[in-house]
Amino acid sequence: MEPNQSPEFVKHFSHPRNVGSLDRRSRRVGTATVTVADCGDVMRLQIEVDCQGRIARAMFKTFGCSAAIAAGSLTTEWLRGRSVDQAEGFSGDYITERLALTPEKQHSSRLAEDAVRAAIADWKRRRCRQGQPAS
Ligand code: FES
Repeated sequence: MEPNQSPEFVKHFSHPRNVGSLDRRSRRVGTATVTVADCGDVMRLQIEVDCQGRIARAMFKTFGCSAAIAAGSLTTEWLRGRSVDQAEGFSGDYITERLALTPEKQHSSRLAEDAVRAAIADWKRRRCRQGQPAS
């Protein structure tokens, strides 16, 4: 980890929240695996959405730098309890500001934003439809 990181950064990097996986076969779950071309860091983000369109759980894994870990952790905290409509407005700028990321680490914010968008898109393809029980 680089010196002079913000307390919020250290908190999420040292003790990342919501690390793990959800059942990707469930129609309630949207899964995304995205990468940053510039650096090759990878984030896998999953959301579990109830049939009212609220994100009940969000989990992540990353193969990346300390900023990618902190970004994944903070993003999953932000997602929990939000509606899908709210989550569609998620911006990586939130991550940049909350973690006080330096310009050279801001692609981790883009990584998180891309992961949220892709996970929602995957959930929309798979979501529970009226008359179908959610598994
Ligand atoms: S070095 Fe690019 S997201 Fe970590």
